[in-house]
Amino acid sequence: MPPDPIQLDRDHLWHPFTQQQDWVEEEPLMIVAAEGSQLIDSEGRRYIDGVSSLWCNVHGHRHTGIDAALREQLDRVAHSTMLGLSHPGAAELAARLVELAPPGLSRVFYSESGSTATEIALKMAFQYQRQRGGQHARRSSFVHLRDSYHGDTIGSVSVGGIDLFHSTYRPLLFRTHAAEPGDAADLERVLAVHEEEIAAVIVEPLVQGAAGMLLHPPGYLRAARELCDRYGVLLICDEVATGFGRTGTMFACEQEDVAPDLLCLAKGLSGGYLPLAATLSSERIYEGFLGAPQERRTFFHGHTYTGNPLACAAALANLDAFEQEETLARLQPKIELLAERLEWLAAMPEVREVRQRGFMVGIDLGEHDPDLRLGHRVALEARRRGAVIRPLGDVVVLMPPLAISELELARLVDVVAESIEEACPAGIVASRTGGAELGSPSAAREDGDPVPMTSPAREAA
Ligand SMILES: Cc1ncc(COP(=O)(O)O)c(C=O)c1O
Repeated sequence: MPPDPIQLDRDHLWHPFTQQQDWVEEEPLMIVAAEGSQLIDSEGRRYIDGVSSLWCNVHGHRHTGIDAALREQLDRVAHSTMLGLSHPGAAELAARLVELAPPGLSRVFYSESGSTATEIALKMAFQYQRQRGGQHARRSSFVHLRDSYHGDTIGSVSVGGIDLFHSTYRPLLFRTHAAEPGDAADLERVLAVHEEEIAAVIVEPLVQGAAGMLLHPPGYLRAARELCDRYGVLLICDEVATGFGRTGTMFACEQEDVAPDLLCLAKGLSGGYLPLAATLSSERIYEGFLGAPQERRTFFHGHTYTGNPLACAAALANLDAFEQEETLARLQPKIELLAERLEWLAAMPEVREVRQRGFMVGIDLGEHDPDLRLGHRVALEARRRGAVIRPLGDVVVLMPPLAISELELARLVDVVAESIEEACPAGIVASRTGGAELGSPSAAREDGDPVPMTSPAREAA
């Protein structure tokens, strides 16, 4: 008999953002196949992929065009290095990303995850300022927003603002300054105080995803750009979550006509197929690294699988699908449908607030006793009803593939509404703790999922 994969999982695996003590008590869902917007488990049951396999799937699973592109690439070469060599897929993809990205971003540096895309942007900003010399060389610190999330490597954690995820590592982190999310006056205050030591400001444009789908007020991103220009600091936009159509446009930056100095992309870049990330930079930053080798202006950074040919082939096919399937045009009525269906969900007594920007949705159940694990209970109920979702604490997140059908989308919202009703015990509304303001940022709690927090009294590391 072949070994039982569930037993092997329990005996040997260590899952990300997971309290293993709880994990081994529950029945894990083993995904063995997928089709379109649905995942299929080892028993043949189907589930709507309500969070796009952690916010990355775009055109569905087993997409004909992406599958074919990967097979073709496999017949050529699966991997060759970008250190000292190049390949056509990486070059073509770079050119297409430059064309799609906000104006002025002309160079593409590859890596494999959202964390590395932001890590690279931070290192580039730091080294660029150093190499400018004079008073710029003192610009060695960063401004980030409270409740921000930019990944799990030490640099990206340094600019993170979610206490549970990040505070343990504080002794390892570099110094940063925190500004209030969505508050341009506060950003200005921080910049004015620390003006001469700031290399860059890093933001998640429009939506702070891991904070619980926290929405910035209109005009904030534009104001952040203007402040960066006024204080002579770089703007890094982390579009790892918001990029590739999630907010309704290819990139969230477009909605406020903002071009950052550095742009971080990952997740949806390969359509949700393979690990691929890109950090795009302006020509001005790129040129700051040019010089004779002995000048030591080189960017000494690069991973083994940087710009992997298979991943680039998937990304190119993903971009083709955006064009051929008119993904963004066809998304707009689905965004409206989603908004309509969420309206009545928002009226449920168990729901405190619904936050939506395009296909990014946070259904906030309010602050409850963490031991209830309300968001987790909703996810388990949804699973029973045929949808896979993953909450952020007591914020139920919906972020389906852009290619989901209208029928599946409507079903997903229905499943979530039923699951909330079922998971919330009687008296749950009255038992809400704290008085967090609507739309307030969230903080994380022990099971790795953030919950709304009343007074985020967190100082940057
Ligand atoms: C805005 C943002 N930046 C960075 C990351 C990290 O990406 P990855 O998990 O690919 O390292 C995430 C992940 O959710 C994210 O939402």
